[in-house]
Amino acid sequence: MKSDQLSKTAAFIAIKFYGLTRIPAFRSLFEDSKVAFYERVVESLPTPLNYYHYWLKYDWARRLYTWSEELLLPGDLLHIIARKYYIQQLVHELKEDQYKQIVVLGSGFDDLAFTYSQQGISCFELDVPRMAKHKQQFFNRYYPDSNHPDIISYHLSDDQQKLPLSSHSNIDPNKKTIIIAEGFFDYLRTDLFDSILGQIKSFFHQTPALITTHFALNELPLHHRWSFKTGVKTVGEELKLYQNINEFHKMLARNEFIIKKQFNHQFMATELQQITGTELSILQGFYLLIAK
Ligand SMILES: C[S@@+](CC[C@H](N)C(=O)[O-])C[C@H]1O[C@@H](n2cnc3c(N)ncnc32)[C@H](O)[C@@H]1O
Repeated sequence: MKSDQLSKTAAFIAIKFYGLTRIPAFRSLFEDSKVAFYERVVESLPTPLNYYHYWLKYDWARRLYTWSEELLLPGDLLHIIARKYYIQQLVHELKEDQYKQIVVLGSGFDDLAFTYSQQGISCFELDVPRMAKHKQQFFNRYYPDSNHPDIISYHLSDDQQKLPLSSHSNIDPNKKTIIIAEGFFDYLRTDLFDSILGQIKSFFHQTPALITTHFALNELPLHHRWSFKTGVKTVGEELKLYQNINEFHKMLARNEFIIKKQFNHQFMATELQQITGTELSILQGFYLLIAK
């Protein structure tokens, strides 16, 4: 990931969420404001990505898109709904438990920091400079009169491994904090992932609630693993964290994060199929966890 790059993987998460929430069964899982946020995100993407805003309104175009996606990487589409759905539930529960600060790492086009900024929570988003600039312009254009999250423009790299905590930001180490790393750690090398966990642990006085996704690529059939990696590479990004779920657990444990809940692909698919009536599946090896 380059610092001057608009993340296409982040853009396609927004596009897929937008396309799927044209369908009432998926739309009903989310607040109208969240659905509207993603409509605006897709509308504001640079051309030709913003064409999806027009075409995905049509049922036949969505069917064609779904067919091609399911052919290349079955379960990719529903996993987007799953991560947004379960993360929103977890954050809601934590808010009830008096968490007062949210830091979203690799925030992309996600709405959570914006949404909770309206509810008296201090919210921070961290992303590479190009993404941070786009997001700030997006907030100024579509939500000029709302509270905005504090956007931290920052590119983590082999040369820049320190998170911009302490003197670099207004993040308060004394507040009960939620850290969200949705589709983020996958883009970091194992040693950088390890270092980030350690930095988070030592900065905050109380261990934050860490909500993270993980793709255990070893659980995917070989050809789908290839599709996944190639898809990401084609848009100029690279998956770097190749840990199976046990290695991922060990890394969390090494940094004294205790797993409180873990959702696997079967659990999430079964529940979402029951609620929405969809026949889509969720890709194998996809996990969502909360650790404290
Ligand atoms: C797959 S996207 C996920 C976006 C968002 N969290 C979501 O799930 O909708 C990954 C995000 O992490 C950001 N990112 C990737 N590598 C990064 C790095 N080294 N430093 C800062 N941000 C990075 C990208 O710019 C992108 O917005």
